[in-house]
Amino acid sequence: PEKGLKDYYKDYFPIGVAVNPRMVQPGPDAELIKAQFNSMTPENAMKIGPIHPEENRYNWKDADAIADFARQNNIKLRGHTLCWHNQTPAWLFVDSTGKTVSRDVLLARMKRHITDVMTRYKGTVYAWDVVNEAVPDTSTAIYRKTRFLEIIGEDYIEKMFQYAHEADPNAQLFYNDYNTETPSKRDRIFQLLKKLKAKGVPIDGVGLQAHWSIYEPTRSELEESITKFASLGLKVQFTEVDVSVYPKEHERRERRPTDKSEFTPAMNDQQAAQYKMLFEVFRKHRNTITGVTFWNLTDRYSWLDNFPVPGRKDYPLLFDQAGKPKKAYESVVRF
Ligand code: XIL
Repeated sequence: PEKGLKDYYKDYFPIGVAVNPRMVQPGPDAELIKAQFNSMTPENAMKIGPIHPEENRYNWKDADAIADFARQNNIKLRGHTLCWHNQTPAWLFVDSTGKTVSRDVLLARMKRHITDVMTRYKGTVYAWDVVNEAVPDTSTAIYRKTRFLEIIGEDYIEKMFQYAHEADPNAQLFYNDYNTETPSKRDRIFQLLKKLKAKGVPIDGVGLQAHWSIYEPTRSELEESITKFASLGLKVQFTEVDVSVYPKEHERRERRPTDKSEFTPAMNDQQAAQYKMLFEVFRKHRNTITGVTFWNLTDRYSWLDNFPVPGRKDYPLLFDQAGKPKKAYESVVRF
């Protein structure tokens, strides 16, 4: 069989892909996953909303399908995510009369959630994104204003890590966030992680989401992130890599006249150059980086289609809409 990404990177780090349950059913997507990747992350199936829709009901079906596929094909599995302000159901925060629950009740609910989910996938999920996106983009605050912060207080983060560590002492526990190359946010995430480490919170690593574009980050911005977070003694993983062909988020709130939803030859070249640079840096920091995961499989489907600009398709991945390797793929595997 032909070599896949996982083979080229065998001596570096596992190469992962975000999947939904459809992709692991027999078919071309499943074949592509098996040929190219040795790690997976469920795109949505393990988030609280999908997996724990009501207080006394879990929906294991989708996550189980992904976990079964991972076990059967000897693919590592990352768990994503135990505590996040999005895709979290309303029941978590209110009692039966609709009143906001107390700190103790919310802590107890989260402990039960974390314990149940981690116990089910013990031995299959080797690393968990315990807390996702707890630091705000703008403002000088460290803590994003979420229901968890309001109801529990700043120590909610360390509590989640403690519960996770108790549930599966062998799992690697990560804090995961985006815009980690933006200096102000990077510094505030760093302060948060430093505090957690100083308190002895059981945290093993930081997940840098890596929702990037052909315009950013620069090589130096990327290297600064890696060395800065590694200086805390944390493992670094790039957990949600994609390279949008459009300018970054704050510049693209509105549909721009140049955004025609076409993948032009110029974009193809720029994207290949950007991916080449990113993976050069990843390889250089192979002793720090313990995983690189793409957020989706082929350009046929990406979470960036219609987001943040409705009606606009994106082309952020290494495989085209037919599942064939793009120029960016070549730029990543030729070294
Ligand atoms: C996204 C999924 O890809 C979408 O399908 C879903 O509608 C919204 O969430 N940061 C994260 C991921 O940590 O969980 C998000 O995934 C993308 C941004």
